[in-house]
Amino acid sequence: MTQNGPMTAPDEVPAITLAGGVPMPMVGFGTWPLHAHQACEAVLQALRAGYRHIDTATMYANEDEIGHALRDSGVPRPEVFLTTKLRARDAGRERQVLAASLRSLGTDHLDLWLIHWPPRGRASVSAWRELLALRDEGLTRAVGVSNYSLRQIDELIEATGEAPAVNQIHWDPSRYDAGLLRALRQRGVVVEGYSPLKDTDLKHPVLGEIAAAHGVTPAQVVLRWHVEHEIVVIPKSANPARIAANLDLFGFSLDPAEVARIDGLGR
Ligand SMILES: NC(=O)c1ccc[n+]([C@@H]2O[C@H](COP(=O)([O-])OP(=O)(O)OC[C@H]3O[C@@H](n4cnc5c(N)ncnc54)[C@H](OP(=O)(O)O)[C@@H]3O)[C@@H](O)[C@H]2O)c1
Repeated sequence: MTQNGPMTAPDEVPAITLAGGVPMPMVGFGTWPLHAHQACEAVLQALRAGYRHIDTATMYANEDEIGHALRDSGVPRPEVFLTTKLRARDAGRERQVLAASLRSLGTDHLDLWLIHWPPRGRASVSAWRELLALRDEGLTRAVGVSNYSLRQIDELIEATGEAPAVNQIHWDPSRYDAGLLRALRQRGVVVEGYSPLKDTDLKHPVLGEIAAAHGVTPAQVVLRWHVEHEIVVIPKSANPARIAANLDLFGFSLDPAEVARIDGLGR
């Protein structure tokens, strides 16, 4: 137990293997919009609760605090999967920006570096080539994108022969899109969902019924639903009890009928 809730053993959290063989824990800790002392405290709390996957971005302006929390936690760097993101407006300055992120985070490599948004609304093959080159130098174990359309991803693949390892996109039951999921998987792209809870009606009777059947909360049902679909999920919380509960997803599972009911919530 942590001070404020259950502790999940890090090895209970399944990992998905990214192209190139890099394991990525299926549940990570989202850090936007955490700042200053609160960011440091929340990340420390998350590491204590058992998270070994932290999601940040240059745009969140909290990489220094996350670096402090990682150092203060005593958790060895190789045990944590660390993602940060290149701001769209920093395309063209990839090398300097990555060096600054590494300095702030207090590490010599990332696990995943993402292009946060398509630069100027375009796929930006030049930025993608830079990310691939920096990965090949060992500065990040994997590279990917965020908020990219399928067409933009296809443009990157056509130009370089390499698909992004991950597309981090807005995902929740109301946004469930089986066709998009299938198309990304066919291209070898792992889907990472952001904002899983924010726009979800946690009072919806379907979520309430399923939660009651398993003795968990509707939020845990939504997060577990991502895992059942093999979608990586990165809930944010600043509340220690919710931080712990959002990772405590491995003492129950959803059957196919329950998954299908949640899939149907957006229709
Ligand atoms: N790539 C992108 O463009 C992009 C965009 C947005 C977000 N992200 C990433 O995705 C992460 C998560 O997304 P998000 O922060 O937008 O949304 P979220 O994780 O879906 O929701 C966070 C909100 O839900 C509350 N919450 C957390 N756990 C809860 C629970 N168990 N029950 C009820 N409420 C709960 C939080 O409040 P408390 O803090 O009070 O618990 C907070 O208000 C971000 O932190 C960021 O790392 C990426």
